[in-house]
Parts: sequence; structure tokens; C-alpha cells
Amino acid sequence: MTDLSVNVDHVATLRQARKAAFPDPVEAAEIAERQGATGITIHLRSDRRHIQESDLARLRETVKGKLNLEMATTEEMTTIALRYGPDQVSLVPERPEEVTTEGGLDLLPSGERVVAVAKQLKAKGIVVSVFIDPDSRQIEHLLSTAAGWVEGFEINTDSYTQADGAAAQAELQKIVQVTSMGLDGGLRVFAGHGLTTANVRAVASIPGIEELNIGHSIVSRAVLVGMEEAVSEMLRAMA
Ligand code: PXP
Repeated sequence: MTDLSVNVDHVATLRQARKAAFPDPVEAAEIAERQGATGITIHLRSDRRHIQESDLARLRETVKGKLNLEMATTEEMTTIALRYGPDQVSLVPERPEEVTTEGGLDLLPSGERVVAVAKQLKAKGIVVSVFIDPDSRQIEHLLSTAAGWVEGFEINTDSYTQADGAAAQAELQKIVQVTSMGLDGGLRVFAGHGLTTANVRAVASIPGIEELNIGHSIVSRAVLVGMEEAVSEMLRAMA
């Protein structure tokens, strides 16, 4: 069975829309773990548009499984990660104007910076993963430099989730290929981005992918399936 790490960023997005105290991503994380998630993922972005540093501090105290922090390779984020010590850090590219992470890290030009940050995290006992596209050149480069700083990588599944029919099958094959390259090279393999109940099965069936990171579709669905109870609660409170 593939592990599920639930990304609770968008619970915080809803909270930050009002700069209110709720909904609380820590409460969402507790529910997710109770329902069988093996870990919780958050992305502390430089612009703090959803998750705040205080959320990371509280999640560090409350998450029972693996706490995975997605972050850019900046000095600020490295200091924060070292301060709170999440179980895992997933290094991602970050562009201030982007709506969500737009693609994997390009290790060919930016590899040195990634390695330097990763080594500092690893020295503190944090597992380091890098988010990369299912591109065999990136994996080859990662494998040629991987020793001693990275434990695994997360495959960006976005292209697969955006494609249909034969194109989706071709994207899936790229994911299969880089998974086996990574496993042969002794790395742990994770995957995520854009996964929904409609497209997850094919990825969850790939042998060797240890964990899927899923956020937007779960939080979106939670809002709708929770609407019935929320309206009933309000009517009861009014009566
Ligand atoms: N993996 C990475 C590196 C991400 O940046 C995100 C989005 O925060 C996810 C996985 C989860 O993607 P989604 O929210 O589309 O499920």
C-alpha cells in the first residue's frame, strides 16, 4: 500500500482569506492522520500566503507520522527548517508570481545551491528529497551527484494529470521509468501534484513509489462533503 501524505496548505489558504483563526491546518492534519494518512505536508512559502511559521511550530508538536516541509532553497527557509526539524524537507523551486509549484527543480544549472542546502539539513538528521519532473536527464544528474546529501526524490506528476488518453499513458510511462531509475540508484521515490481520486490509481499502482503527496483535491472535496454538516450545525445553532 502506498503511503499518503496530506498537504494541508489550502486549509490555511481559507483561513488567510479572512486572516482568521480558522480553519486550522493543525486540526485538519489531526483528522487526516486519524483517517490513515501516514504523514502531513506543508509548503512554507516565502510570501506566507497560506502556511505560517507558527503552523510549522504547532505541527512539529502534533503530527504523529512524518512531517514533510516543502521549501525553496533560500537562506531564510534553511534557517527555519533547522530551527523546527521536520522529519523530511522536500526542496522545490519557488517563483513569487506562481499560483502553485510550476515544475520540478532543474538540477543541471541549480544543483550546487540545492546540494549546499541539503547538506546542512542532512547534518541535522532531516531526510532530504527533491521535487523533479519525470525527466531521465534530471534523474541521471541526481544519481551522479546523489551520494551523501539526498535520500530520495518526488516525481512531479502534473504533466500526467493534465494529459488525456495516449498522452496520459506516455506521461505515466515517464513516471514508471524514472521510478525504476531512482530505485536502481538506491533512492526513495515519492510522487505528487495534481492527483485526484480520478487519476491517482495508476500512479498508486506503480511499484516502488513509497508515498503520494496530495493536497488541493482533498481539501477541495472536504469543503463540499462537509457543507451538509456545516449547514445543519448552523441551523441547529439558530433554532
Ligand atoms: N508536491 C509538491 C512539491 C507540491 O508543491 C504540491 C503542491 O503544494 C504537491 C505535491 C501537492 O499538489 P496538489 O495540491 O495538487 O495535490
